[in-house]
Amino acid sequence: MAASGWKGFFLSAFDYKTEKYVIANNKKVGVLYRLVQLAIIGYIIGWVFFTKKGYQETEESIESSVMTKLKGVSFTNTSDMGIHLWGPEDYVIPPQGEKVFFIITNFIETPNQMLGYCAESIKVPDGRCRQNTDCPEGETVLAGHGIKSGRCLKKHWNSTGTCEIYGWCPVERGSQPEVPLLGRAENFTVYIKNFIRFPRFEFSKSNVLNTTDDQYLKKCLYDRTQHPYCPIFRLGDLVSWAGHSFQNMAVAGGSIGVIIEWNCDLDKGYDSCHPHYSFTRLDMSSTANSVTSGYNFRNARYYKNSAGQTYRSLLKVYGIRFDILVHGKAGKFNIIPTLINIGSGLALMGAGAFFCDLVLLYLMKKSTFYREKKFEPANNLRLIPCSRVLHPKAGIKPATFVAIGNSSNHYTTSYTNQTVSAILMCLCPFCHTPLQE
Ligand SMILES: *[C@@H]1O[C@H](CO)[C@@H](O)[C@H](O)[C@H]1NC(C)=O
Repeated sequence: MAASGWKGFFLSAFDYKTEKYVIANNKKVGVLYRLVQLAIIGYIIGWVFFTKKGYQETEESIESSVMTKLKGVSFTNTSDMGIHLWGPEDYVIPPQGEKVFFIITNFIETPNQMLGYCAESIKVPDGRCRQNTDCPEGETVLAGHGIKSGRCLKKHWNSTGTCEIYGWCPVERGSQPEVPLLGRAENFTVYIKNFIRFPRFEFSKSNVLNTTDDQYLKKCLYDRTQHPYCPIFRLGDLVSWAGHSFQNMAVAGGSIGVIIEWNCDLDKGYDSCHPHYSFTRLDMSSTANSVTSGYNFRNARYYKNSAGQTYRSLLKVYGIRFDILVHGKAGKFNIIPTLINIGSGLALMGAGAFFCDLVLLYLMKKSTFYREKKFEPANNLRLIPCSRVLHPKAGIKPATFVAIGNSSNHYTTSYTNQTVSAILMCLCPFCHTPLQE
């Protein structure tokens, strides 16, 4: 018994089982099904394959290197410094050509500072005093410039003064000039060299035109349509393309992002992979004149006089910081994503059929009728071994079974209902295991 059970199981494993369909002559659901199919095919071809390039393998990790070089000279004429000439070595910080660089556009200079005793600036709240006990000796001034000496310096006996400090004297004074001292930086140019590589596809390119004309880079200026491969930009253009005015931004400083986007379809070849530039201001706050806007820091240069004493020149510099950000992705045909996308498209078709089934079986007027046709109850069958049902001695000849199976109206009254069900079960292609009593 057990042996024949296993044998039947193994033999049934090699039976090919095909699905049986119920055809519903319902034009509404039929049209709905075709529409759903059409929408899914449209989505797969139009969106997945054409728009999203679903047939491509993509790489988003771009390897990139950026080098920058600034050109331009300007001079300033201030009472402290006199006439001073500014070259890139003076106004670019740091000078080594990084992808983040700062251009000085405005400054406050405090020349000839030496270590000694002097009054703290009135702008520092912790440095204000009314009497000597407000300035305990040896304490540092919070957010100030030096160490308190214990004396309160004031003009009149009952006015507010400031503590005397030990530090670099005189302390910084003055306020930020209203017109940027280095406003001519608007006409300075920056050369942005960018090399990129997509390691998976062994593809590399640069944003500089591949030319043998060595004068090209000396003459050209970037233009989106005329010179897309000229990587030389006027600073004023970078700021105005970001939607701001260079002269306004130069007063208090700010930050500009230069975004280089490489979106490459490598199926179209080397020449269709272009850099695309966009520009934005990065330090924007929602309110126009917020205390957070602007960018400045201090920078000192140290000297020695003929007597061997150290003195320094302090510069509070305002300027524009440029951040060059490189993004990119590349795609190339590959059979695996193609097959995956086709497969998921076919699975979506199945979802369409499922949806139409729901409509047919639950939302239509005749849905009860369709449900009865689709779901056949398999209970109240008496299970008889097939060998006995199909045995010639049982009085039923195999040739007649087919006729019985084909049309349920033709069985004669001499067969009971249960016998017919058993015969149908034995002929049923879905019988997975041998019938048992
Ligand atoms: C920049 O150069 C143009 C043309 O050479 C000139 O008209 C303009 O005044 C210059 N801008 C500044 C701020 O110097």
